[in-house]
Amino acid sequence: MRRPAFIVNHLRSALVLVAALAAAAAAIPPAEASPASTTDTNQGAVHRAIPRGPVVWSHRGASKNAPEETTAAYERALADGADVLEGDLAQTKDGVLVVIHDNTLARTTNVEEVFPDRAPWNVADFTLAEIKQLDAGSWWNPAFAGQRILTLHEWFELNHGRAGLAPELKSPTLYPGMVENLAKELRAWGYTHDFKAKNGAPQIWVQSFDEAGLRQFHALLPEVPTLLLRSGYPFMTASDEVLTELATWTTAVAGNPVQNTASQVARVQSFGLQVVSEVEDGPSLLSMIEHQGYDYMFTDVPNVAKAVLADKKPLRTNRGVIVDSVVYNPEGSDVAVNGGEYVALRNTTDKPINISGYTLREFGNTLLRVGEDAVIEPGSLYKVYVGPGTDRPNAHFNGLTAPVLADTVTDHIYLYNPDQVMEDLYSYIAS
Ligand code: G3P
Ligand code: CA
Repeated sequence: MRRPAFIVNHLRSALVLVAALAAAAAAIPPAEASPASTTDTNQGAVHRAIPRGPVVWSHRGASKNAPEETTAAYERALADGADVLEGDLAQTKDGVLVVIHDNTLARTTNVEEVFPDRAPWNVADFTLAEIKQLDAGSWWNPAFAGQRILTLHEWFELNHGRAGLAPELKSPTLYPGMVENLAKELRAWGYTHDFKAKNGAPQIWVQSFDEAGLRQFHALLPEVPTLLLRSGYPFMTASDEVLTELATWTTAVAGNPVQNTASQVARVQSFGLQVVSEVEDGPSLLSMIEHQGYDYMFTDVPNVAKAVLADKKPLRTNRGVIVDSVVYNPEGSDVAVNGGEYVALRNTTDKPINISGYTLREFGNTLLRVGEDAVIEPGSLYKVYVGPGTDRPNAHFNGLTAPVLADTVTDHIYLYNPDQVMEDLYSYIAS
């Protein structure tokens, strides 16, 4: 055994070394965490830095794997690793803030069945008790029957500080006192400044296309980050004066990876503004957002976004059939009989594949079906037409009377197997 003096000496020099290392460590600035840290008043310590790349916002929850803005969509988004949950606000007849995109209940609930004589079924014309009777899941898929419209309070409770929250003041001019109501709810939750959720993302963001409404909100809670939305993304090419003024009261603006460039993103950021992307779902567009240096990546499919950021395979559920291509603007009418716009599926294997029960959606959630007992020959195509026509062994016509595949900007096609599992996701840039 070694002599005591020797041990003491070595202990002393070890202690000196540790002290030196500690001093050195103290001198290093904290690691670059999520972009939000730049404006972080940091009331609470950063729980966990967001991994590499933009923070992922889930648009209306995981809204291509469950009915938008329901418990199912938000729980799925959290399970898929979303950093921020986005949702749109409306207000009931009795003044309760609820989470729903449209100003009417018609598209995402069974209100026309439950209240047939209450057209146009505006949210503002129904009490919360009436709205809570509605099924907000079956429209998307009967498997989600029974999902309810959430109140803002229930949405926050569901999240319970796990991820960031980004409520959007959708149409504040339609709902008297909506902005004050939101501020009151945020005060009740202590969401009155910029701090981190348990996952390290900014806990609260308030967004709106309504500038007056957002400025009014900012005046009530000036420390809450805000995102000013504007169609066409004019702020990405705005003057220095406009960006300087914007940076005095808002935190971020939105850009589009197809229409804008990395240098435009960097210029806007140089004014102290952060940049949130347009909602994009396809792996190619998501990687454009990452490589253009956006602070936030907005998507309906947070699982795919996280996979892209981790250089992993976006979807590990594919069984051999993919979306090969999309003909969205053929000669003549897009819904011409036995012609028109279509999605081409391809069998990537050397075995025939039965695709009965497969369905497709485009970004707007229109559902397209394949033919009964449809089989794709090995290595072959199967065309899913939007319009009317006579089915062929390798083609099915959905009989819609209006086109659904976008002819402008971008669109996305989602392929689901009969168990409603997304097997492929395809994006195209139309203009
Ligand atoms: O937050 C911006 C984005 O959500 C805007 O689109 O129509 O889904 O609210 P929308
Ligand atoms: Ca929204």
